[in-house]
Amino acid sequence: MKTIIEPFKIKVVEAIRMTTREQREDILSKARFNPFNIHARDVLIDLLTDSGTGSMSNLQWAGIMKGDESYAGADSFYRFQDSVRKLTGFEHILPTHQGRASERILFELVGGPGKIIPNNNHFDTTRANVEHSGAEAIDLVIAEASKPGLIHPFKGNMDVPRLEALIKEKGRDRIPLVMVTITNNSGGGQPVSLENLRAVRAVCDKYEIPFFLDACRFAENAWFIKQREPGQANRSVRDIVREIFELADGATISAKKDGLVNIGGVLLLRDKNLAERADALLILTEGYVTYGGLAGRDLEAMAQGFEEVVEEDYLAYRIRSTEYLGEKLKAIGYQIIEPPGGHAIYIDAGHCCPQIPPSHYPGQALVCGLYRTGGVRTCEIGSVMFGNNGKAPDLELVRLAVPRRVYTQSHIDYVIESAAELFGQRDGMVGLRMTNSPPFLRHFTATFEELS
Ligand SMILES: Cc1ncc(COP(=O)(O)O)c(C=O)c1O
Repeated sequence: MKTIIEPFKIKVVEAIRMTTREQREDILSKARFNPFNIHARDVLIDLLTDSGTGSMSNLQWAGIMKGDESYAGADSFYRFQDSVRKLTGFEHILPTHQGRASERILFELVGGPGKIIPNNNHFDTTRANVEHSGAEAIDLVIAEASKPGLIHPFKGNMDVPRLEALIKEKGRDRIPLVMVTITNNSGGGQPVSLENLRAVRAVCDKYEIPFFLDACRFAENAWFIKQREPGQANRSVRDIVREIFELADGATISAKKDGLVNIGGVLLLRDKNLAERADALLILTEGYVTYGGLAGRDLEAMAQGFEEVVEEDYLAYRIRSTEYLGEKLKAIGYQIIEPPGGHAIYIDAGHCCPQIPPSHYPGQALVCGLYRTGGVRTCEIGSVMFGNNGKAPDLELVRLAVPRRVYTQSHIDYVIESAAELFGQRDGMVGLRMTNSPPFLRHFTATFEELS
């Protein structure tokens, strides 16, 4: 069959509150043209993020009831540990409340002034944790990643010759680990090939540097490997996932993505000594080692989520849904980052509204337009997010992130219809003026007024 259906039935529903365009005009203006300020109940389709916004399965909810809330040695912890060990093969498995908590512990241990952390692209919390430790974060993604229209099967790959040149230039002693983010969120949700991961591992072996993964979307990345990498089509996703983790000495994971939970994270380590030091930091700020800042029920939900996320029917549906959205937006005339990533589609707002200069935030104008037209909430990744140093970023993007197992195809068709209507009105779209610009992470709280 050509039709890929949502591989689940819906047992519990949550109402979406319908709004009219007039109501949305009012809501948007009261939110001062920043959809982060909009109350979620006023959003019809929420594509702000795929992080922690997914739906849990009946078995995960059953796990919630089974949660053992003992302070130490809870059954739920051992179930979580077994599930993660079966998936990754790691010996030391630390639960944390979310990805950035794992990052904070890791970089407090290995970072520090004078140190350098290479990555394909650091996610913003990863970069912030590296820099907070005093270390320098360096992005070494392949050059193809910066060409939005270019089709490449693994645009998240690390530039291995540049990695080796960096190690030679700076010296291996300054590089406590090399990290690769799968899939590469900051680079458009693009995957990394197994061949590339093996090549990074080989360089790390040559210079005796540990190799770590930022593995939030490990299953989506493994699915792309199965689909696109020569020789991988007949392997199971679980087998590919296992090989990916076996290549690494450690990993940070936000389980809010491929853990299929609303809260949770993991820190994986192979080195016993490092794991003991990480345990000490975990106890200091997260909680005891068998719950790490989570409730027993959260560990149960994660244990089950890590089983479900490698189911191939789920992944076929997941990746196809995102691709479907991308294909349709392209057919309307939007330029998107190609090929479609695993968890999100990124529209090039600069291409859509060339009449709006970066200083008037074309991405934010498009974000506001999508909300006004269809109540669809998206996120600007352009001059609002990155322009506070006075320099416009290379691209003015709008991200449509798809939550896991939340929306059906007709919801996505509705998003496409809203986007089509807006595209027809793009010549009349106007830019914005920022009326309040906080010094850090300003996209969350900045306010705007529309230029007439
Ligand atoms: C690649 C990547 N790393 C780390 C994180 C941080 O995870 P969390 O939001 O759970 O702290 C995210 C979250 O979006 C991410 O996409």
